[in-house]
Amino acid sequence: MTPAEVLAELRELRELDAPTHGGRVLAYVYDSGLDELDALASAAAEIARPLNGLDPTTFPSIAAMERDVVAFTRRALHGGTRPLGRRIVGSVTSGGTESCLLAVKTARDLWRAQHPERAEQRPRLVAPATAHAAFQKAARVLDVEWDPVPCEPDGSVRADEVIRRLRSDVALVVVSAPAYPSGALDPVREVSSAAAARGILCHVDACFGGFALPWWPGLPAWDFRLPGVTSISADLHKFGYAPKGVSVLLHRGRDRHRTQFFATTQWPGYPVVNPTLLGSRSASPLAAAWAIIRYLGTAGYADLTAACIRATEDIAHAVAPIPGLAVQGLPVGPALSLIADPSVPPAQQVDPHHLADAVARSGFKIQHQPGLRQPNGTRLPHSAHLTITPVTERSMPELIGALTRAADAVRGTPQADPRLELAALRALGYGSGTRVPGPAMAWTILQLAGAGGAAKGRSLPGRLAPLMALVERLPAPVAEALLTELLARVSEP
Ligand SMILES: Cc1ncc(COP(=O)(O)O)c(C=O)c1O
Repeated sequence: MTPAEVLAELRELRELDAPTHGGRVLAYVYDSGLDELDALASAAAEIARPLNGLDPTTFPSIAAMERDVVAFTRRALHGGTRPLGRRIVGSVTSGGTESCLLAVKTARDLWRAQHPERAEQRPRLVAPATAHAAFQKAARVLDVEWDPVPCEPDGSVRADEVIRRLRSDVALVVVSAPAYPSGALDPVREVSSAAAARGILCHVDACFGGFALPWWPGLPAWDFRLPGVTSISADLHKFGYAPKGVSVLLHRGRDRHRTQFFATTQWPGYPVVNPTLLGSRSASPLAAAWAIIRYLGTAGYADLTAACIRATEDIAHAVAPIPGLAVQGLPVGPALSLIADPSVPPAQQVDPHHLADAVARSGFKIQHQPGLRQPNGTRLPHSAHLTITPVTERSMPELIGALTRAADAVRGTPQADPRLELAALRALGYGSGTRVPGPAMAWTILQLAGAGGAAKGRSLPGRLAPLMALVERLPAPVAEALLTELLARVSEP
């Protein structure tokens, strides 16, 4: 094929994708609405494309860009000037999940070093149930015990519920600023000061809010202004508006930061020193983020955040009078989650997943979030998540119209009831979660549930509400096996 033919084919493939620009997709993508920002990011990424981020001594431009990015983030998160305290230092990583994994690895290694007598024990990772799933992944990968703190149905967590779990076997407590599912800002001050008093590390996951909350007025302190906060993650590929593949993890103290590293001289190749999980890594996302930061500066981020604030307020005001629909809790920052209004009778409620399906028919994608049954028996409601970006403002009348029409269309329709599918799965022996389906059986079940089209290059079924209801009600290991199969089949050759 000629290069032109190859690129034409790629463009054709891209036509199947959801629109990444223009505010139609209210999750996954963070569109600043500034065309020149995208052009700048692309040009910077291209200049850095041949580099290998593995070795900033061979390619000092990488070290220079990383210094600038870490310094900018540190200033934004009030970690810049601590003449008496421990210095705030950190690394650029490949994304939120890697930053979260590294925060947990650091805490685990420090806990192990402090407690050599407990070599047989797995330390705990305490976090509200709304903490990002990346921390569950970290717990599994790093052999730490995941200890979720039940949350209130409005998505908030009680500080005392977190604090009473902070015992000497806790390696790390995590709070979010804000939590992705509901937009709730966790009680960072209370938790971080209790953690500090017990000698426990406290990570603030600001992957979502780290480049928006610093310019969001009227918030309580949630960052390095609080002395008990020992690390913060903040994603440049979210509200930093950089292309995917770049996040920052900051630590209070060089000693903690250095614990994050992996180094070995015990092989016959080049000495390996990796600050992050990857070895060879692209410098393009770093270069793009660096260029965006230099171009926007603090004032640019403040302007873009102001657009997010206006759009978030507009949506909240527009949803308030829609009968049967409600915003969950008290979101902080550029996200909110829609739930069925629990204060009205079911016949007047708007089911958020039917709403999301109906809104999709108007060309807007809002994100289905299944409900969660917590270990204490309470349930966090199923909801529809909206990430609000600067461009959301531009499509506001259309978006509000779509939400209102969709709510009118589905009002009174109860949450999908997967009774038949559940009975069939129980009959097949998958009722308890102790037995999980293998690839072939999982695939058969998915096809019966109507999700088979996704694997043939087509999109998921137009109505996701029934699949989400099934996911919510199945034993978690069974649901996870089904979803694993679905995603594996999507890209299986
Ligand atoms: C609060 C929070 N933490 C962590 C992550 C994980 O980030 P990533 O998808 O970049 O790995 C996200 C992603 O949405 C998030 O919202």
